[in-house]
Amino acid sequence: MSTSFLRMILLAVAADGSLAMGHKAARSFRFASISVDAAIKYQEVDGLGASQAFQRAEDVLGKDGLSPSLQANLLDLLYDVDSGAGFSILRNGIGSSNSSASNYMNSIEPFSPGSPYAKPNYTWDGYDSGQFPLAQQARARGLQTLYGNAWSAPGFMKTNDDENNGGYLCGVTGETCASGDWKQAYADYLIQWVRFYEEHGVKVNNLGFLNEPQFAATYAGMLSNGTQAADFIRILAKTIKRERMELAINCCDGIGWDEQEAMMAGLQAGPDPAEAYLDVVTGHGYSSAPTYPLSTTRKTWLTEWADLDGDYTPRIFYDVNGPGEGMVWARNVQIAFVNANVSGFLYWIGAENSTTNSGLINLLGDEIVTSKRFWSMAQFSKFARPGARRVEALSSAELLYVSSFVNTDGKIATQVINNDTAAYDVSLTLDGCRLLEKRVVPYITDNENDMTELAPVLLANDGTFRTTVPARSLVTFLAI
Ligand SMILES: *[C@@H]1O[C@H](CO)[C@@H](O)[C@H](O)[C@H]1NC(C)=O
Ligand SMILES: *[C@@H]1O[C@H](CO)[C@@H](O)[C@H](O)[C@H]1NC(C)=O
Ligand SMILES: *[C@@H]1O[C@H](CO)[C@@H](O)[C@H](O)[C@H]1NC(C)=O
Ligand SMILES: *[C@@H]1O[C@H](CO)[C@@H](O)[C@H](O)[C@H]1NC(C)=O
Ligand SMILES: *[C@@H]1O[C@H](CO)[C@@H](O)[C@H](O)[C@H]1NC(C)=O
Ligand SMILES: *[C@@H]1O[C@H](CO)[C@@H](O)[C@H](O)[C@H]1NC(C)=O
Repeated sequence: MSTSFLRMILLAVAADGSLAMGHKAARSFRFASISVDAAIKYQEVDGLGASQAFQRAEDVLGKDGLSPSLQANLLDLLYDVDSGAGFSILRNGIGSSNSSASNYMNSIEPFSPGSPYAKPNYTWDGYDSGQFPLAQQARARGLQTLYGNAWSAPGFMKTNDDENNGGYLCGVTGETCASGDWKQAYADYLIQWVRFYEEHGVKVNNLGFLNEPQFAATYAGMLSNGTQAADFIRILAKTIKRERMELAINCCDGIGWDEQEAMMAGLQAGPDPAEAYLDVVTGHGYSSAPTYPLSTTRKTWLTEWADLDGDYTPRIFYDVNGPGEGMVWARNVQIAFVNANVSGFLYWIGAENSTTNSGLINLLGDEIVTSKRFWSMAQFSKFARPGARRVEALSSAELLYVSSFVNTDGKIATQVINNDTAAYDVSLTLDGCRLLEKRVVPYITDNENDMTELAPVLLANDGTFRTTVPARSLVTFLAI
């Protein structure tokens, strides 16, 4: 279709639309064209997901009354690609606590061996604050990537002798301790956590050693700048190589995208840049959102973000554009992939016993409440699978936001968010692809629907189909 012909249609519709405005009952409609070119490929997708750290894994395992059959349903919703979202990344916390009081995550080395050179007394309880059995269940349902992430080293390895309240790892640039340099001991310790998982049948893929290192939290955490993170990455990489482990290094889970960007210079500095040993650069979305690519050639993941203090609005896809609403999060995910070049997107908590927006699913006794945020993430996760590539997708309408991904099996998943007050008649063209069935299945999430499958549409020979995208909705078109 030529652009001048398109413009003619647009003009005709605009004329109709303004005519209709005179009649109160007239349906207002708009027209848009969307074009996807699967031959123009961008970053690879590793997947979407969340964490069950700080004992939230225990909520999933029934601590507060979720019955065994609903536990299984919940695990399916989170990790099964046929009956749920098929989340493919799970972020487990590597605990630094010497007890399980409050919501602490147990350390595999709860007490100091006395010095960094003494033999550590590691301990494995097969539970890991609920996260080990959770990881087993997730793997059984097809989870692809397990990301082990320490918020802090154990207190005895730190300048403040405390897992909480900031402090630095003893031995990084500018930070020394009377007890010695604990960098190698911390690397050995993290590797041992991975070994415990793997000896018990659960592969760990990615390893991180910091969480929000710009912020001295009252809970587990550790401060670091880029130089100090680089000091540790070099030692961790050597240790992984020496142990002949197949393990990717993530860094640094900065508190916001800008704060992670600010760490890049330190990670890239010197004759032996730490970035060379890094597999994934990770940042959070709290203090600044992922809206641009980080300055790195490595893959990037948005590894934590959530609405922590907005009104509890689990079942609202669109109302007032509130911070916990479904469309806001659909758009956050889309912007992260399209504008910030991420390969992964993780919300903070997957499911938890709470009446807040900090998880995707709320567990209220024996009830599961899926939020619209959950369904928004599922509309990406279920259809743009690990290994998929993001591809070029353009929309002619300002309030119709698009993204598209080509999967390794050739299926194309295109997400369209309609943030307008009216439905759009859409002409969607798929170029540069080879589809087996030339069939498109739409799935919709809006205030009324949770990823509802709609009637399939057939593609014309030129790769085009006509469809409708309702007002204030998210539709994923899976082309097969
Ligand atoms: C090792 O730690 C465990 C508990 O974490 C403790 O029961 C045991 O006594 C410790 N062993 C030594 C030799 O300190
Ligand atoms: C246990 O951890 C807490 C918090 O870091 C710390 O205050 C306490 O000294 C630790 N206890 C022992 C015996 O190491
Ligand atoms: C990080 O902090 C150390 C210690 O204060 C300092 O020497 C180093 O220059 C800092 N690095 C960056 C990139 O700011
Ligand atoms: C996007 O990320 C990939 C790695 O996944 C990288 O190779 C590429 O350079 C990045 N693109 C931009 C524009 O940053
Ligand atoms: C939708 O549009 C409104 C303006 O009408 C804007 O304030 C809001 O940010 C948009 N929502 C999203 C998710 O982009
Ligand atoms: C967790 O679940 C229990 C039992 O259903 C309930 O009494 C409690 O209030 C819940 N806690 C939160 C934070 O929702």
